[in-house]
Amino acid sequence: MTIRVVIGTVLIAATMMIVTFVMINEPARMPEFEAGFKGRSIEAGAALFQSSCTPCHGIQGKGIEGVGPSLNAADLFSGKRLKEFGWAGTVKDYVRSAIAGGRPRASAAFANYPQRMPTWGQEFGGPFRNDQVENVVDFVMNWEKEALAAAAAATPTPNPNAVGTDINVQLPQGDAANGEKLFTGKGPNGAYACSACHSLEPNKTVVGPSFAGLAGNAAKRKEGTSAEKYFVESIIKPNDFLVPGFNANLMQQNFGQLMDKKELADIIAYLMTLK
Ligand code: HEC
Ligand code: HEC
Repeated sequence: MTIRVVIGTVLIAATMMIVTFVMINEPARMPEFEAGFKGRSIEAGAALFQSSCTPCHGIQGKGIEGVGPSLNAADLFSGKRLKEFGWAGTVKDYVRSAIAGGRPRASAAFANYPQRMPTWGQEFGGPFRNDQVENVVDFVMNWEKEALAAAAAATPTPNPNAVGTDINVQLPQGDAANGEKLFTGKGPNGAYACSACHSLEPNKTVVGPSFAGLAGNAAKRKEGTSAEKYFVESIIKPNDFLVPGFNANLMQQNFGQLMDKKELADIIAYLMTLK
């Protein structure tokens, strides 16, 4: 009798432990299940897109000029197009509405697309069931990351430590040896290649003036302006003062957005050695 009570108690305890274990893990399995469900929806959407949408929107939704606009595009996901349409909802609702209801009239943004976006949802008289509309929506929405990342990669990130265009900027101590590397573009980060336009040979004009004897000239260029100060201005605001005989905008204008203070100081330290 007692042995049966003991066995019973142990079994109940074991069952409770198993139930507790399953319950604890249940929330972890839900997202996994949802991810699987989403994955299958995207797959189904891909097949529908391939047959029904690529003829106008192109392979991978990249668009066909004059036929169907790109859907794999940053301005769709960033909200830019939604703003043009005055759409207050989410991108996903916008995509769903365009697919299910179509576009009976050309919208101003796509005036040069003579074909209309057809209606796909059954409730609007199209061929797709609601779940199929949802599949295609999931497939299109799946391009979000790719489209935004491609756009970000195409726009160069501005240097957050850039020196800017304030000619009164305070500069750290410069290193002429590194400045020479930056100037000639031979070093590992020699992106500035000033030497492409400025020769060190006397009187030799490439695009810009020769830098033979530069430091001496620089001190005399502008009344009351030291050579160092003149260099800062010449490099980050080249059009402020033009060397006689040279036109504006010949020198690259964006060094202030590209180089940081240390690099500018290094280049100036090098220019000061050009006696
Ligand atoms: C006959 C050509 C054609 C077919 C087929 C077609 N579309 Fe379109 N689609 C267009 C055109 C044209 C527009 C732009 C309409 C406008 O706003 O004037 C458009 C717009 C859209 C938009 C809105 C884009 C935006 O930025 O405003 C989405 C989303 C879309 N289509 C998805 C689809 C999907 C998904 C399919 C397949 C189920 C599909 N389209 C099939 C021609 C087509
Ligand atoms: C695309 C050609 C070009 C590049 C690249 C270029 N410059 Fe220039 N630079 C010019 C021209 C043209 C002038 C003369 C017109 C003017 O004053 O803006 C000039 C003028 C100057 C002057 C004034 C010279 C003097 O005799 O008074 C300095 C200093 C200068 N550049 C420094 C640089 C530095 C440093 C770099 C690299 C970080 C550089 N430049 C890159 C074309 C260029």
